[in-house]
Amino acid sequence: MVSLEIRDVHGDEIDDVVRIHNQVVSASDREYTIYSSPRVAMYLRAIVAWPILSPQHRIIGAWNGQELVAYAHYRDLGCSYHLNHIAVADRWQGSGIGNRLFQHWEAEARSRNYTKLSLDVSINNTRAREWYIRRGFESDYSTYVFSREHDAIEASNDGNCTSGLRIQGWEAAEAWQRAFGFSTFGIHEDDRRWSVGRLWTKYFQLDAVPSEEAWHVLKVIDSKRDVLIRMRAGTIILSNDDSLRLTVTRMMRSE
Ligand SMILES: CC(C)(COP(=O)(O)OP(=O)(O)OC[C@H]1O[C@@H](n2cnc3c(N)ncnc32)[C@H](O)[C@@H]1OP(=O)(O)O)[C@@H](O)C(=O)NCCC(=O)NCCS
Repeated sequence: MVSLEIRDVHGDEIDDVVRIHNQVVSASDREYTIYSSPRVAMYLRAIVAWPILSPQHRIIGAWNGQELVAYAHYRDLGCSYHLNHIAVADRWQGSGIGNRLFQHWEAEARSRNYTKLSLDVSINNTRAREWYIRRGFESDYSTYVFSREHDAIEASNDGNCTSGLRIQGWEAAEAWQRAFGFSTFGIHEDDRRWSVGRLWTKYFQLDAVPSEEAWHVLKVIDSKRDVLIRMRAGTIILSNDDSLRLTVTRMMRSE
């Protein structure tokens, strides 16, 4: 077993985190995450540079001498301690390094009195899924990420059809988008609300199917983005026109 140092990642080491992530996580699994933004390192650097502003996040790394060989990013989800990402550089996989980072995460959850550990894994990532199952995790539910076309909506803003809608958090979302290449804002329509993510220049990502008016707003904001919808399997039946991009499984373990 190599002698490893495991500690918090510093701001000037974040480029190595992103390099490892991009090396070992498939492009299709990265595409619908913040790692599709070329500015994701700015975001991760902000997290580690000002922990007081993001106390729920922690990024740790494993070093062999000067070389970062693996990292794990976890955070508080309120009801569980959640593993956002774990990645071991290709040539170091299978030598127990992932397990060491995993044990750190477990130990920290224990010391903070969490009763649940959680993580999300792509259904295509059989190796990681089996790795988690061997560590006592069980599938809780699946989420579909699918795209839906809406040809009838034009990118014009000439009528009153959006008058009942309000956008919440727009200024902050614009600042995030410029700084980090992704952002979230809300669309409110009477008592309905959609959380809308923007991933780099390619996607809107919503947590429910938008109404006609909400579609219209999205087209006005950026007619070129594809609209992705991220919903729990079982709460939606996909139609033939929907294109399923990814299925993600939420896995849990009770402590
Ligand atoms: C999934 C991943 C994090 C696992 O990390 P890893 O370092 O390859 O895994 P480990 O070496 O700790 O464990 C692999 C197996 O090798 C075994 N192993 C091999 N050599 C070992 C050694 N010298 N010491 C300890 N265990 C060793 C372990 O027993 C383990 O078997 P087990 O699962 O039955 O316990 C890693 O493969 C990875 O980065 N994958 C790509 C990114 C990814 O998919 N991330 C998860 C997204 S949700």
